[in-house]
Amino acid sequence: MSKLQILFVLLVFNVVSSGFSAAQTARNYEAEAGTIVGKMTLEEKALLVSGNGWWQTYAIERVGVPSIFMTDGPHGLRKSLVPGLGKAIPATCFPTASALASSWDVELIREIGVALAQESKANDVQILLGPGINMKRSPLGGRNFEYFSEDPYLAGKMAASYIKGVQSRGVGTSLKHFAVNNQEFERMANDSIVDERTLREIYLTAFEIAVKEAQPWSVMSAYNLVNGTYATENRYLLQKILRDEWGFKGFVVSDWGAINERAKSLVAGNNLEMPGSGDFNRNKIIEAVKSGEITEARLDEMVAQFLAVILQGDASRDKAAKFDLETHHEFARKAAGETIVLLKNENNILPIDAKKAKKIAIVGAFAKTPRYQGAGSSQVNPTKVSNAFDELEKLFGNGVSMSFSEGYDAEGNTTDAMLNEARNAAKSADLTIVFAGLPDSYESEGFDRSSIKMPDGHDKLIEIVSAVQPRTIVVLMNGSAVAMPWKDKVKAIVEGWLGGQAGGGAIADVLTGKVNPSGKLSETFPMKLEDTPTFPEFPGLNKKAFYGEGIFIGYRYYDKKNIEPLFPFGFGLSYTSFAYSDLKIDKTSMTDADNLTVELKVKNTGKVAGKEIIQLYVREETAAVVRPDKELRSFAKVDLKPGEEKAVKFNLSKRDFAFYDTSLKDWTVNSGKFTVLAGSSSRNLPLTQTVEITSSNAAAKTLNRNSMLKEFQNNPGCKDAYAGLLLSFGFNINAPKPENQTPEQEATQKKAQMAFLAFLNDLPISKLPAFTQGKFSEQMIDGILAKCTATL
Ligand code: BGC
Repeated sequence: MSKLQILFVLLVFNVVSSGFSAAQTARNYEAEAGTIVGKMTLEEKALLVSGNGWWQTYAIERVGVPSIFMTDGPHGLRKSLVPGLGKAIPATCFPTASALASSWDVELIREIGVALAQESKANDVQILLGPGINMKRSPLGGRNFEYFSEDPYLAGKMAASYIKGVQSRGVGTSLKHFAVNNQEFERMANDSIVDERTLREIYLTAFEIAVKEAQPWSVMSAYNLVNGTYATENRYLLQKILRDEWGFKGFVVSDWGAINERAKSLVAGNNLEMPGSGDFNRNKIIEAVKSGEITEARLDEMVAQFLAVILQGDASRDKAAKFDLETHHEFARKAAGETIVLLKNENNILPIDAKKAKKIAIVGAFAKTPRYQGAGSSQVNPTKVSNAFDELEKLFGNGVSMSFSEGYDAEGNTTDAMLNEARNAAKSADLTIVFAGLPDSYESEGFDRSSIKMPDGHDKLIEIVSAVQPRTIVVLMNGSAVAMPWKDKVKAIVEGWLGGQAGGGAIADVLTGKVNPSGKLSETFPMKLEDTPTFPEFPGLNKKAFYGEGIFIGYRYYDKKNIEPLFPFGFGLSYTSFAYSDLKIDKTSMTDADNLTVELKVKNTGKVAGKEIIQLYVREETAAVVRPDKELRSFAKVDLKPGEEKAVKFNLSKRDFAFYDTSLKDWTVNSGKFTVLAGSSSRNLPLTQTVEITSSNAAAKTLNRNSMLKEFQNNPGCKDAYAGLLLSFGFNINAPKPENQTPEQEATQKKAQMAFLAFLNDLPISKLPAFTQGKFSEQMIDGILAKCTATL
C-alpha cells in the first residue's frame, strides 16, 4: 500500500470511528434545550430564568429540567447553605487572584482549576462563580485582591487557563464582572464612563481572551452602568460584543441583585436573574411577553441558552466524587510558593542560613494569625490554616530558637508596650522577620481603600525593629499594592500576598530556601497614591466615574508619565540570576497579515535551580495615534538548573501590534516600525529587535470629503492620489533635487517645504475647490475618493 493509500484508510477510519463514538456519547445540549423549550409554558420559561433563592435554579420536572447549584469562587468553594454571606462548608482556600497572577504560570492556574472542580463536584456544585478579571484601575479598588492584574493580556491568559481547568472536569465557571467594574464605591449605582478605544483595549480585552480561548459556561454581568446603561441591560456588551463578535455560547447571569428592569435585561441578553426575586420579576417577564415588550422568540432564546448549560452541568453530576483534603492543602502550599514575589534581597540575606542565624525574632501577629484571603463573597471557610511561625519552626528544627512578639492588634494598631517588646526581641536576635501588611478591615468587597498605606502600627513596627536590627526581613500579607516608606531600612522584602490557607507554609519554604521564589508583580507598586493613574478622581462623583486616564492604567501610565514606581509591573527577584541573550526575529519586514516568530535564550547563571518569567512587550515607534510606551504581548515561565540555558519561542500576530481604531471599529496596525522588547520586568528589557510592518488596513474605506490630505498618504492604496493632491497646490513630492544647490540653499528650501507640507497635510480635501479657485473640482474629489476606495 502506498503512503497515500495508508493515509486515506486512516482518514476514513478516523472519520467513521469519531462519528460513531460521537453518536454514542456526545449529547447535543443545545438541541435538547431547544426541544424542551418548545414544550414549556410561558410561566415555566419565566420561572427558569429567575433564580430559586440565593444559589439554585428551579427544577421543572414536568419537562425534565433539573435544578443546578452555583456558588463562589473564585479561589475556593464557598458553598453556603444559607442566603447571603453565611458560613460555608469547609473547602480549600487557594491564594487569591492577585497572588495567582503573580505566578505567571498558566499551567499552575489550570491545575488549581481542576482542584476547584473536584471540590465543586464533591459538593454537587455545577457552576463556580469565578474567575474575576476586572482591571486594577486604581490600587484603591476594594476587590483588587480578587482580580488578576492591571494588564489585560496577563489577566486574560490567567482567566482562560483557570476556566479550562475547572471546565475540563464538567463544572462550569462564571467569568465576572462584565464589564468596567473597577470600584466598590456606590457599586450598584456607579456609571463607568469610558471611551470606546479604552473599553476595547483595556477593559474588554481580558474578557475577550477568556471567552475566545476557553468558552466559560457563563458570564456574570456587573452591578454598574457602562456609558449610561446598566451592564445587565447593555445589549451592546451582552449581545453585540459578547455573543456576536466573540462567539460566546453560554448564559449570562446577573451579579447578585444587579437586575434593574428585568424585561430590559432579557431583551439585552441577560439570561438569568440571581438571586431569585420571587414572583416580583417573574411576573414582570410574563407581563412583558404579553405586552410585546419581549418577544416570545427572544425569551425562548434566553431560556434555551441557559438550559443547554443546565443540562450539561447536570450530566456531569457524580455522587461518588470526592477529593483528598490533605492533598489539596499541600497543593495550595505549592501554588502559594509559586506566587510569592521577592522584592528586595540585599547582600543575599535570603534564604536564611540557619547555620548563622541561630536566634530569630519573629515579629508581627500575622506570623501566627495570617491574613490569607479577602473578605466578601469570595471568603472561603478553609479546611485548615497553616501559619508561617509553626512552619518555620518545623523547617528549622531544634537548631534555631525563635521568639514571637505580637507587634500590633487585629486592626493594625500598636502600643508602646508592644513596640518595646518587639524592639527588645529584635535587638537580641541574629535576625528579625517582621510580618506586616493589610488587616481584613483594610481590604474587602463592598468598599474601596482610602489610602495605599499600611496601618500605622505596621509601619511603626518595621521602623522600630529595623532601627535596632540591621538584619531585618519584611514579609507582607496583602491583596494589593502598598506603600513602603521603610523600604531602604530593611534588608529584604517578601511579598506573600493573600496566599490562601497554606500560604504560611509557602512563606516558610521561601524564607528557608526550600522554594526559590519565582513570582513577579502582576501590578505596579507605586511610591505614593498621588502617583497613580486615577488620582485624584477615583472613585468618582455623583454616581459617575470618568475614565479620563483612558488606556493609561498600570505600567502604561507610569511609563508614559515617566514616573518611577516603587516596584514596577513584572518585577521579582530570585535566589539565582538569569542572563538573556540572542533575541532573534524571523523577519525584519512584513505585512500585518504575517506572524512574527521571536526567539531568545535565557540562562541560569547562578548556583541554584530557579524559574524565570520572560516577558515580551511591543512598542510602536512612530505611532500616529497615542499609544503606550509598550504593551505586554507574551510571556513564558521556564525552569532552569544552574548553568542551564533554554531557547524560548514566541509568536506574535496582527493583534499584538494593533490598536483599536474607533473610526474603523476594528483592530488596526498602522504601517511603521515596531520594537519587540524582551526581559525580566517591564522596566528591565535588555533585548530588542525592530520589525517594519506594512499595514493592509482598510482605513481608506473611511475616507470622505472631510478627510485630511495626510490620511490619503497613510493609506497604501492612496499614495498616488496623495501626490496628485499635493500637485494641485504646485507641490511636487516626486520632484528631483535641483542641481547645483548649496547646502544652505537646500536647508532653506527644505524648511519652507516642511512648513507648507504641514499646512497641506492637515487640510480636509473638501477645502480644495475653494483654495484652488475651482481648479480642483468637486468631481475630482469624488473621483479620488472612488479610486482610493476601489484600490483596496
Ligand atoms: C459579588 C459576586 C458574587 C456574588 C454571589 C456579589 O456580591 O459581586 O462576585 O459572585 O455576590 O455571592
